[in-house]
Amino acid sequence: MPKENQKMHSIVAHDEHDDRHHGSINVPIYQTSLFSFDTYEQFNLARLDEQENFVYSRGNNPTVRYLEDKLAQLEQGERAKCFASGMAAISAAIMSVVRQGDHVICAHQAYGPTREFLGNYLRKFGVETTFVDGSSMDDWKNAVRSNTKLLYLESPTSMMFQLQDIRKCTELASSIGAETILDNSWATPCFQNPLAMGVGLVVHSITKYISGHSDCVGGVVIGSKRLMDPLMTTEYMLFGGIMTPQTAGLVTRGLRTLPLRMQWHETSGLKVAEFLSIQSYVGKINHPGLPDHPQHELARTQMTGYGSLFSFESHESLVTLRKWADRLQYFRIGASWGGFESLVNVNALNANDPQTCTLVRLYIGAEDPDDLIHDLDQAWRCVALSLSEEEQYEQNSGINPSG
Ligand SMILES: Cc1ncc(COP(=O)(O)O)c(C=O)c1O
Repeated sequence: MPKENQKMHSIVAHDEHDDRHHGSINVPIYQTSLFSFDTYEQFNLARLDEQENFVYSRGNNPTVRYLEDKLAQLEQGERAKCFASGMAAISAAIMSVVRQGDHVICAHQAYGPTREFLGNYLRKFGVETTFVDGSSMDDWKNAVRSNTKLLYLESPTSMMFQLQDIRKCTELASSIGAETILDNSWATPCFQNPLAMGVGLVVHSITKYISGHSDCVGGVVIGSKRLMDPLMTTEYMLFGGIMTPQTAGLVTRGLRTLPLRMQWHETSGLKVAEFLSIQSYVGKINHPGLPDHPQHELARTQMTGYGSLFSFESHESLVTLRKWADRLQYFRIGASWGGFESLVNVNALNANDPQTCTLVRLYIGAEDPDDLIHDLDQAWRCVALSLSEEEQYEQNSGINPSG
């Protein structure tokens, strides 16, 4: 039984003595597809509620259940269900609240595959989505239709780090009889508790901070029993995109240090962002923890800390910044985030007009921030030097750089 008012560090690090596992301090990995019974009476009784009893691992498995209970406690929800990936969790959560003919409003910077699922895939079931900027409440209010049944939030978003006003969005949703789902992968329950602000379902890509070691893919949906019970018996059981006991064991190990890691990531992320804010090649920095972020005040009212994934805009070309990324020694070039390793991703801000501005997304991992700062600096010095050598060469040989 979870202790009342337990603090975050204790939730993840403490378990009561459990005789069922011979006092083992780690929950064993129950590598089994099914559970057998002595008598038919016991079997039939267990099958009356496959979500609470252990009958078949597609429904409920002790290792996965242990993780689900921890995540529910961290997010202050009544029930959690773990999935094979963040997208499996997100699509199941959305499917559980929409019906044919419904309308959804979604923050337009939400994770790409989520937008694809809402904007394109769900059309074939007659569900329509309006995408809104979402930083102002007018965007949401103006998009409401008589059949709006879901407001989908991701706050902050994971490319431009734009926030939505969570409390006001949930108030709007309840005034029109709609549900809300929020992707909380960036802030984690350490820094943001959307359920306490009235959100219906919280989703996470467990692949990111919650597992934290870049060695698993997973997702979770967390909420009240009212919303979770139907999701568990339909989208969870019927789509079958479950988390395996092996993965749950790995995620549980990562979860033990989530609050410790998040403290480090927050401090390091801010330190690196502050360093970047005075570099010549850096324009606008998208980090809600920086005082000049346009939604910093809102961030302070709905978050107690910050993830370490952020981006900056630059007028240096895509080619130049990719050369810079190639020279980074600590930052690896890669797509995901939330693990121990720092990552860099360089893209055109506007894919239709790659000349305008370049967007660099940095993930600050568990390394020492001073080493990361030194790395960013040495890579830029190398690139700046080769740029000035190229310029010199062009001048000496009479080549017109703009020609
Ligand atoms: C904000 C956010 N939500 C959801 C997902 C999807 O998670 P997964 O890759 O585990 O399916 C991602 C993945 O990058 C993400 O960044």
